[in-house]
Amino acid sequence: MSQNIYDNQKFFDGYKKLRDNPFSANILEEKPALFSLAPDLKDKAVLDLGCGYGENCEEFLRLGAKRVAGVDISEKMLDIAKIENPGVEFINADMSDLSFVKDKYDVVFSSLAVHYVENFSLFVEQIFNILTPGGYFIFSQESPLTTAPIDGAKWVKDENGNVSHYRLTDYSRSGKRSTSWIVDGVVKYHRTFSDIINALCDAGFVIEKALEPIPTQETINRDPKWEKDLHKPNFLLIKAKKYYIHKENLDMF
Ligand SMILES: C[S@@+](CC[C@H](N)C(=O)[O-])C[C@H]1O[C@@H](n2cnc3c(N)ncnc32)[C@H](O)[C@@H]1O
Repeated sequence: MSQNIYDNQKFFDGYKKLRDNPFSANILEEKPALFSLAPDLKDKAVLDLGCGYGENCEEFLRLGAKRVAGVDISEKMLDIAKIENPGVEFINADMSDLSFVKDKYDVVFSSLAVHYVENFSLFVEQIFNILTPGGYFIFSQESPLTTAPIDGAKWVKDENGNVSHYRLTDYSRSGKRSTSWIVDGVVKYHRTFSDIINALCDAGFVIEKALEPIPTQETINRDPKWEKDLHKPNFLLIKAKKYYIHKENLDMF
């Protein structure tokens, strides 16, 4: 069973405060990048893994999806999701084993949740099987450069207190990280770029696009602290496709 930190009251309250900030990295960088990767959702069945408050689910419906289901391990997050998004089916479950998903979906999204999954290879294999042929798996996660340092992400400052660079350590040590984020002991899993790409390819996916969004010049002008994201992006996003013909059979053509 995976950790369910979002049901920890202190974490839940702290996270809510972060998400209520209209100038968060989620709103300025991650959400626009995620939706830029979305295919036409008209009449599609969509599954959102680690859906949280369900705000993306609501947007998928608005974009024309005929059916949207959201999965989350946290009852507290889903309590809000159910009130705010009545048109969505919400399932309280651990997405690290998706054998409970019996329906097929045309698009599987996961926004900022896959770094909580320990066995990424099993996870993407299960998603591949849930998808209809031609379907997409589109996800965002913390950048592997952020998840790498075992003692937490740290920025190095110059003598004037300005950020000079990001301190990258432990990048090639894939595995569990216990981090301090709102509370101590938040468990995430670090994977290198090649771990992620190879797991997707081994499952049968073809990667169509990757994004590492950066702040707009307008955002940097408004608050120069955003310039540090040009040293290290906050997020990695990938759009992967399940082709109609399995790639092992492509040699026939
Ligand atoms: C950073 S929040 C993102 C929420 C939402 N996707 C969004 O972008 O607004 C991560 C969410 O993933 C959920 N989560 C973490 N581990 C999970 C797991 N093993 N199974 C299902 N949900 C999980 C958390 O409860 C939380 O709601």
